[in-house]
Amino acid sequence: MKNLLKLLLLSASLLLQSGSANAQDRKIEQAIKHRKAAFTLMATYVNRMVQTVEGHRPFDVKRMIQDARTVELLSKLPWEGFVEGSEHGDTRAKDDTWFERDRFDRYANELQAKSVRVTAAAESGDLKQLSNAVGQMREVCNGCHKVFRKG
Ligand code: HEC
Repeated sequence: MKNLLKLLLLSASLLLQSGSANAQDRKIEQAIKHRKAAFTLMATYVNRMVQTVEGHRPFDVKRMIQDARTVELLSKLPWEGFVEGSEHGDTRAKDDTWFERDRFDRYANELQAKSVRVTAAAESGDLKQLSNAVGQMREVCNGCHKVFRKG
């Protein structure tokens, strides 16, 4: 039984290795992982801000400023993961991302600009301002997803 398990594990790891046999495949896989990780982290902090402006969390100004600054930083990170060839693989990015790169980049830049304004709004300590700024930022998230993300 133990030997059978070992054999299964060995063949599974061999399969995995042959699946990403060449360095180019690995590079693309890493790029896709990189951008998804950046988006996932971004969503964690954005969701916390959304819950706050919607009244489901107490308005903690210090925390909001920290979260906004974190999103500002994270909003710079996904883009380097959109490398040539990474339209194939474990990804929901549409091919258009590469065909309409200018439009995609405009959304990416817009997100970074909006996230700077979210930080300024958080620093103002005014919940209404924060709410508006977060709303505008989310419009950019959703706008880009509609055009460039499957599902
Ligand atoms: C410039 C376009 C663009 C903008 C702006 C954008 N996204 Fe995305 N997002 C994408 C694309 C494309 C994917 C699909 C990535 C993939 O599967 O390779 C994605 C994927 C995601 C995912 C899924 C990650 C995963 O693990 O599959 C989350 C969560 C996400 N975005 C959240 C956000 C949030 C929150 C914002 C705004 C703060 C945002 N995105 C802004 C294009 C964008």
